[in-house]
Amino acid sequence: MRTHRIAAIPGDGIGPEVIAAGLEVLVACAASDGGFRVEVEHFDWNSDNYLRRGHYIPEGGIDRLKSFDAIFFGAVGSLDVADHVSLWGLRLPIAQGLDQYANVRPARLLPGVTSPLRAGDAVDWVIVRENSEGEYAGHGGRAHRGLPIEVGTETAVFTRAGVERIHRFAFELARQRPRKLLTLVTKSNAQRFGMVMWDEIFFEVARDFPDVKTDRELVDAATTRMVLKPGSIDVMVATNLHADILSDLAAALSGSLGIGATANLNPERRFPSMFEPIHGSAFDIAGRGIANPIATFWTAAMMLEHLGETTCARRLMAAIEATTGAGIHTPDLGGQATTRAVTAAVCDALRR
Ligand code: NAI
Ligand code: MG
Repeated sequence: MRTHRIAAIPGDGIGPEVIAAGLEVLVACAASDGGFRVEVEHFDWNSDNYLRRGHYIPEGGIDRLKSFDAIFFGAVGSLDVADHVSLWGLRLPIAQGLDQYANVRPARLLPGVTSPLRAGDAVDWVIVRENSEGEYAGHGGRAHRGLPIEVGTETAVFTRAGVERIHRFAFELARQRPRKLLTLVTKSNAQRFGMVMWDEIFFEVARDFPDVKTDRELVDAATTRMVLKPGSIDVMVATNLHADILSDLAAALSGSLGIGATANLNPERRFPSMFEPIHGSAFDIAGRGIANPIATFWTAAMMLEHLGETTCARRLMAAIEATTGAGIHTPDLGGQATTRAVTAAVCDALRR
């Protein structure tokens, strides 16, 4: 019997609701498969405990995570803690500390879900987000606080090593898809240093992948292309900030933010990878039992795939699609189902 050790970090808001649902589904997956089991350890790193303890991650916390096979993360963010403190206190130190540089964000219209686009069924994309540097490198500062000469800087950092490895990863991924089309998303018209280097390295790496078709889109034009010509896109590679924005749009175009899933990968597997829904802690619906757990189930399928449980990952995606296809939808998708009802339906489909 294979055992996969999972570190669960539910976090804040709807995070604990969707992670509880996700763990239930993972256990049902393991039971229906029979070949593996999941061993889960919970970490109570969240904003309430930050306010009590003064830290999100205790001393040595990142090292403890290194002994797990994967991390299952909910969301972080609270009305009582500034967003930059919570994000830099919990999620970014894990993703950066474990060098999870490749952030993979699939978007596809699931059966039974209505897209706001007329051509919504053409949405079938993977966004590859650079996850270790760029605009979220944390490089910058503030000085002369409160004075008229106050200054704040936020410097985007691009390194050849960082840019090359994400482009290479995106090419490898695009190569595995039927259409083998990779779009470089950039802003090298206005940003003439880091972004021009980003483009140059892309076309250098492209020489090693003659079977992958490429094109290039400025990030602003990429938004219109996603809305007006969704079928012209397959895989996109974009910087940390650009992909952050484009992937919320991608989730909305495929029905809801409650569907968007993501994997923060350390492709070399030196460290565990982290799986999470792309949404945040959603204060407006927390505690009401109506959070859409589909994003979390989808990321659980990505986790199973990463752990080598490919058959089970496929079965979980089929169970998700059977559930959305049967019209069992939470309110964000226009339905009336609760988180519990959707979870029960997916577990039932897994048992069938
Ligand atoms: P959000 O993603 O939490 O919510 C945006 C909107 O989408 C809300 O109307 C919410 O109700 C809806 N929504 C999100 N997930 C849903 C789900 N599963 N089912 C149904 N509806 C859903 O983003 P927002 O409001 O910008 O941020 C709230 C907090 O979350 C902030 O503190 C922010 O910093 C944090 N955040 C954390 C992230 C993370 O931990 N990875 C990612 C994004 C935001
Ligand atoms: Mg985001």
